[in-house]
Amino acid sequence: MFFQTWVSYILILFYFCVQNVNGTFKLQEVFRWSAVDYAYPDEYTRAQAIATQRFVPENNLPVGIEIWNDKLFVTVPRWRVGIPSTLNYISLHNLGTKSPRLIPYPDWQSNELANCESGLTTVYRIKADACDRLWVLDTGTFGIGNTTQNPCPYTLNVFDLSTNRRIRRYRFRPEDTNSNTFIANIAVDLGNSCDDAFAYMSDELGYGLIVYSWLENKSWRFNHGYFLPDPLAGDFNIGGLNFQWFEEGIFGLSLSPVLTSGERILYFSPLASNREFAVSTRVLQNSSKVENSYHEFIALPGRGPNGHVTAKVMSEEGIQLFNLIDRNAIGCWNSADPYHCTNIDIVDKDDTRLIFPSDIKIDNSGYVWVMSDKMSNFLLSSLDFDDINFRIFVAPLNVLIDNTKCNVRTHQ
Ligand SMILES: *[C@@H]1O[C@H](CO)[C@@H](O)[C@H](O)[C@H]1NC(C)=O
Ligand SMILES: *[C@@H]1O[C@H](CO)[C@@H](O)[C@H](O)[C@H]1NC(C)=O
Ligand SMILES: *[C@@H]1O[C@H](CO)[C@@H](O)[C@H](O)[C@H]1NC(C)=O
Repeated sequence: MFFQTWVSYILILFYFCVQNVNGTFKLQEVFRWSAVDYAYPDEYTRAQAIATQRFVPENNLPVGIEIWNDKLFVTVPRWRVGIPSTLNYISLHNLGTKSPRLIPYPDWQSNELANCESGLTTVYRIKADACDRLWVLDTGTFGIGNTTQNPCPYTLNVFDLSTNRRIRRYRFRPEDTNSNTFIANIAVDLGNSCDDAFAYMSDELGYGLIVYSWLENKSWRFNHGYFLPDPLAGDFNIGGLNFQWFEEGIFGLSLSPVLTSGERILYFSPLASNREFAVSTRVLQNSSKVENSYHEFIALPGRGPNGHVTAKVMSEEGIQLFNLIDRNAIGCWNSADPYHCTNIDIVDKDDTRLIFPSDIKIDNSGYVWVMSDKMSNFLLSSLDFDDINFRIFVAPLNVLIDNTKCNVRTHQ
């Protein structure tokens, strides 16, 4: 018995590196949907939208979340026809229903497809900051893969959450993108004041990292070999499907707390990769480093096989949480320890309810929010709309990392 356990431990370390968890399910499910629905002003308007295909329920896949006060934001990209609104929220005051309808944010008009002046066309990941601003990257695209059209340019939109007004719309420079560009992720870096703010955005298919300075209202682009996919890591097995995403480069981003030296570390990983990379924000914030900073980017040791990651976040204590999409799991790493697969753990896992955990966020009260959406089944096969397809979970960070290698107390 002892021998068997010991062997399986070694095997797990050898084959998976990230250990398996056998504990209880710590993430609590707060919302669940078979299909998402929207808060139309009345049922007649909703029926009209369905009849005219402005709303096609089974084409709506939620991909991103963010939490600010009593609002839980949910984004829905316009990959197919019938997505009535791309940036939405749910009120956390109203916990009476497990499947609330999405409310367009800030309103219906601001979510108009192909309205390049005042609308949002397709939004993936979003970020709220400590100055009550919501940073929203609009790709301006309609469609996915070879069906993609670009009715609008890439823009970074910033909303004032206290007034629900858009306070900035920045259009990317032509040099920030290329013909392959696909940017779906954003990290926001706040310095000593609300004006001292930067956004970092990953170009997954054009292989770049775009930096935006709020103060200067300017952007610049880094290129680096570490943004490319690993040719040996393009095979995926998720939700019963085998598929190849071998062109997918830099995707997940997370920022460390401010170090004593005054900078943060941006951690990033290509999607087709089992590796983590890092760079100082001191480098990223300096636009003249675009030309000569190759050696300032750092490659960290691998997570081991089945280590594909698309979403990550780091707490103020330096605990990184990330989705392990091959494993229907959420992983953790305490950045006080070296980045190494033996210091990586799984905080929670569920082979039914956590299929493709597409986004993960930590709110101001130390709660971790996770959404799962069966994204690969949606894209490569189809969803069963008699089943539950989308779920949002929550758990306190300290509960999640309890009894893992990432626990700060057991660490000291
Ligand atoms: C797009 O790709 C899909 C799947 O690879 C293929 O079936 C379809 O024919 C392609 N469509 C166009 C317009 O190229
Ligand atoms: C920022 O730049 C955009 C161009 O993309 C411009 O339209 C906008 O007025 C500028 N905003 C500020 C506050 O300078
Ligand atoms: C920005 O980078 C350039 C080139 O490496 C360097 O000369 C300059 O001092 C840096 N600026 C700041 C503010 O660090």
